[in-house]
Amino acid sequence: MSDSPVSHHRAGAPTESPDPEASNEQRAQMEQAYQQMQRKMRISKMDENIKHKIMVLSGKGGVGKSTVATGLALSLARQGKKVGLMDIDITGPNVPKMLGLEQADLNVEEGQIHPADGPSGLKVISMAFLLEDPDKPVIWRGPIKLGAIQQFIGDVAWGELDTLIIDFPPGTSDEPLTVSQSLPGIDGVVIVTTPQEVALLDSRKSINFAKTISVPVLGVVENMRGYNLKGTSTPNSKISVMGPGGVPIDCHSDEDGKWEITLDVFKSGGGEETSKEMEVPFLGSLPFDPGIVRGGDDGVHRIIAEPDGETARAFESIVESVLEQLDKGSQRTLRII
Ligand SMILES: Nc1ncnc2c1ncn2[C@@H]1O[C@H](COP(=O)(O)OP(=O)(O)OP(=O)(O)O)[C@@H](O)[C@H]1O
Ligand SMILES: [Mg+2]
Repeated sequence: MSDSPVSHHRAGAPTESPDPEASNEQRAQMEQAYQQMQRKMRISKMDENIKHKIMVLSGKGGVGKSTVATGLALSLARQGKKVGLMDIDITGPNVPKMLGLEQADLNVEEGQIHPADGPSGLKVISMAFLLEDPDKPVIWRGPIKLGAIQQFIGDVAWGELDTLIIDFPPGTSDEPLTVSQSLPGIDGVVIVTTPQEVALLDSRKSINFAKTISVPVLGVVENMRGYNLKGTSTPNSKISVMGPGGVPIDCHSDEDGKWEITLDVFKSGGGEETSKEMEVPFLGSLPFDPGIVRGGDDGVHRIIAEPDGETARAFESIVESVLEQLDKGSQRTLRII
């Protein structure tokens, strides 16, 4: 039995029309309508096949959404979960570069795009894969862009996944709205912020935006919280380091002479305070880590380069908090049912 009510039109002769007099234009319209229907059916299947869908948002640009989306996806994949990562940033897609997948070849079979294979079995799809020249800016006006996003969602063959992470361009614009309306069963939004006041202000907007579109806020991640400096010196001695703004930061070395100081590059703790103030969970923080920038440029993610490092451990703890929130969410749903 076919699962498509119109498949008998296609099975025999794909271009055949019930009306032999139909013009090319009519045929094209019918073909388009058929594809649209197929897409809708695939999207509704995605709800069954993908257990959790998480959107990663921020109000302000450059605060680390793609870094966090990629890190969450990799961290989950390293735990043995089946994970997909969808980069919906049409104008500036940079997930493939962060994962060293710029040269990835995409397979298209039966009208569906097969995602690229990333590290640790991660499945990745990005608008960057579909652009001919990565240096050419993409200028798509509203409706075309939104149509492209819908196609993008409905035309990818994800198969069965535990989690799909979706990375967005900055802001509370059309993209997250379109995805939240097109993709059923979104579990929630992870909001990324740096501890700067401007970023915090924008993250409050993102929290309110998520509430407006009725998508739960899984929580806030505070990125670039502090830069950890470590060293050795005479045991049990006082160390003084000139911090940002010329303010000295003091600490003491331990009995082995080891010392550690955190420089608050963009201040510290703002994301945590904002989450309390807005009554949404705080998922954890990531240190300022120059290795993240290097990894982004080299295409070897920090988690892969140093799986036991501070950043990888910070991601593991954030993932744990996200899983806790997902668990709470499904318990809520079960109660409602
Ligand atoms: N914790 C961190 N420590 C150091 N650098 C970081 C950290 N997180 C992100 N970066 C760097 O900051 C820059 C911006 O990060 P990223 O691209 O993830 O931000 P974004 O929010 O996705 O940006 P956009 O709004 O353009 O999509 C990148 O160069 C990235 O390597
Ligand atoms: Mg980004």
